[in-house]
Amino acid sequence: MVNLFGIKVGSYLYYERCNSEQLSDQPIDNSVKVVTNFEQLKDNKLGIQQNIMENLLQNNSDLFVCFEGDVPLGMMWGHSGSCYVRGPGIPIIQGKDSVYWFWIFTLPEARGKNIFKRLKNAFFTHYKDSRCFTALVEPSNSIMRSEMDKIGFKETKQYYYVKLSNTALIIEQSCRTKKINFHIEMGNQHNLVLI
Ligand SMILES: CC(C)(COP(=O)(O)OP(=O)(O)OC[C@H]1O[C@@H](n2cnc3c(N)ncnc32)[C@H](O)[C@@H]1OP(=O)(O)O)[C@@H](O)C(=O)NCCC(=O)NCCS
Repeated sequence: MVNLFGIKVGSYLYYERCNSEQLSDQPIDNSVKVVTNFEQLKDNKLGIQQNIMENLLQNNSDLFVCFEGDVPLGMMWGHSGSCYVRGPGIPIIQGKDSVYWFWIFTLPEARGKNIFKRLKNAFFTHYKDSRCFTALVEPSNSIMRSEMDKIGFKETKQYYYVKLSNTALIIEQSCRTKKINFHIEMGNQHNLVLI
């Protein structure tokens, strides 16, 4: 993403995995917890804001955290149903049986120690009855793109956005047909859960 005098310009790849093949059904590693209370995030090095966390947890989102002892080292979130991704201004419109996967993060000092892998297994076991999974990944994020590929996600669209304040021009290109659609989003105009 580039920010030029307050105008944000960037791109995201939209990933989907919609089929019946189960991704994971393993016992959840006991270092991973589904966190429901801000107090569990000791020192909160993950940088989660309490009001945002509470709002999401009340609105069909789940937070998965991997701990070493009681210290959180990494996280990922899932949201069932539609939501509005406020950074680029992209609405994700989907049914309640589809899960948007977001805020995937391992603390820099804990990377390369299977934190993501343990969280991912817990995540897909937790959502094993969901029909579809979606995610946005920046095209430059080669580590995550390779992980998405390994898990069986497909790049179905590329989004380009130009955003000033809360108004975004969204250009959507199908990866298969290359067909382009444009739309303007005036903030969270569909009144969706904010991510
Ligand atoms: C992407 C990220 C979550 C990976 O977390 P992690 O806990 O270090 O990952 P793990 O140790 O569980 O490794 C998972 C896989 O990624 C690969 N990987 C991890 N770091 C890598 C690196 N620097 N280069 C290449 N591959 C890497 C591992 O080899 C492993 O693959 P394998 O299962 O085939 O062995 C972490 O690098 C991160 O937080 N990055 C910044 C935030 C981000 O990009 N989030 C995703 C936004 S969509």
